Amino acid sequence: MSESLATVSYIGATILFVLSLGGLSHPETSRRGNLYGMIGMALAVLATIFGPRVTMAGIPWIVGAMVVGGGVGIYAARVVKMTQMPELVALMHSLVGLAACLVGFASYIDPSVQLAGAEKAIHEAEIYIGILIGAVTFSGSIIAFGKLSGKIGGKPLLLPARHWMNLLGLLVVIGFGYKFLNVHSVEEGMIPLIVMTVIALLFGIHMVMAIGGADMPVVVSMLNSYSGWAAAATGFMLNNDLLIVTGALVGSSGAILSYIMCKAMNRHFISVIAGGFGTSGGTVVVASGDAQPVGEAVPVSAVETAELLREAKNVIIVPGYGMAVAQAQHTVYEITKHLREKGVNVRFGIHPVAGRMPGHMNVLLAEAKVPYDIVMEMDELNEDFPDTDVAMVIGANDIVNPAAQDDPNSPIAGMPVLEVWKAKTSIVMKRSMASGYAGVDNPLFYKENNRMLFGDAKKMLDEVFVALKT
Ligand code: TAP
Repeated sequence: MSESLATVSYIGATILFVLSLGGLSHPETSRRGNLYGMIGMALAVLATIFGPRVTMAGIPWIVGAMVVGGGVGIYAARVVKMTQMPELVALMHSLVGLAACLVGFASYIDPSVQLAGAEKAIHEAEIYIGILIGAVTFSGSIIAFGKLSGKIGGKPLLLPARHWMNLLGLLVVIGFGYKFLNVHSVEEGMIPLIVMTVIALLFGIHMVMAIGGADMPVVVSMLNSYSGWAAAATGFMLNNDLLIVTGALVGSSGAILSYIMCKAMNRHFISVIAGGFGTSGGTVVVASGDAQPVGEAVPVSAVETAELLREAKNVIIVPGYGMAVAQAQHTVYEITKHLREKGVNVRFGIHPVAGRMPGHMNVLLAEAKVPYDIVMEMDELNEDFPDTDVAMVIGANDIVNPAAQDDPNSPIAGMPVLEVWKAKTSIVMKRSMASGYAGVDNPLFYKENNRMLFGDAKKMLDEVFVALKT
């Protein structure tokens, strides 16, 4: 394939990636968005393999790597459950970071690269920055994977003087960067490069270890953004325009998502990254849930729940992580359909960080064919709760915790929540009194107008549906 044909294919792929991002911004166009992305990626891979920069001898290596990588990818996609998707994504981000590091080291020791003067300095700066971003992304994503999968505890690790340590690390990285750009041989340059890589790896670990509980979504989307910048850095090192553009698209869309998440959770981006979660003035705030909330949780049966729903005119359903675990979305849809046929106004309230990944609930509800027009954002219906007869919380916890508003000492203080307790009756469907992802007790459970429907969400909803029909 000629150089110009490869360039045209790259431009085509870039356009398809932009269209893909545009399509993914709405559930109705998301399938098309996915299709554009797949075609764009296929085009990009083919143009790279058959492009002028790959020799015939290199093709078997690429094909071999694609078979292994593709095989692992297909296996993972088949066995990973929807609820484990964020962990898988975190693991994939780590691979992008690792690739950036490896490409950086390989470019540095590549004897065929003979540059001098400004060109050499620019190439080496690309390598230094590329490895830096790659290493932070790699170690940070591994820790994020550990935290999301529960292999590492969710509590923030707050080392004394951690901000000073970060600052010191940054200064050392800048100092070694200067040294790296002024060495006379590759052997000499390896020392600052390796020292910087170790510091970057430690920084990635420290950064994510200091974040806990409910602020993890911001970190995951931020690592998503970093992985984009790591890919863009790899593009610079390899002189590959498509990788630069694609990396920049992922990097900037991840940054926008992080900003949206921060806004949705009422957090300052910098304080999430630098401050850790649940902290105040550098100390961990003890969750107010440790003091037993007053009141008594009142259990309710599936039949009684059906009764309440049958008598209701306005119902708001708030799904959370537990609905995803129980795979209860199809039964939720059946109940919704049944109630709507009986003239009940049923709507869904979606919190921006419900579940374990952005848009988690929207995906599940779309899969179950719940009409989009009754699926509302938190801000769209929070003020409607006082006029709601039944607010049905399905496997959600942190996102309906009134402590976020009432208890300034709560680790989730300030996070906007769905005000289900303002409905005439709220029903919380979960298996026990256990806390949610943030590990904070929930005073909602003890409110006078709240009822607890204990059990697996799918099983309980099946029972509610049977009771509703009879
Ligand atoms: P959580 O606060 O995690 O609460 C989920 C609840 O579901 C749990 O309390 C659990 O209680 C219940 N549950 C689990 N399995 C169940 C089942 N089979 N049937 C019924 N209930 C079940 O979830 P949420 O309210 O959706 O809030 C999301 C949390 O995750 C936030 O803290 C958020 O910051 C965090 N997070 C979000 C994301 C994104 S991007 N969405 C990413 C990382 C972290 P039982 O054990 O008693 O059943």
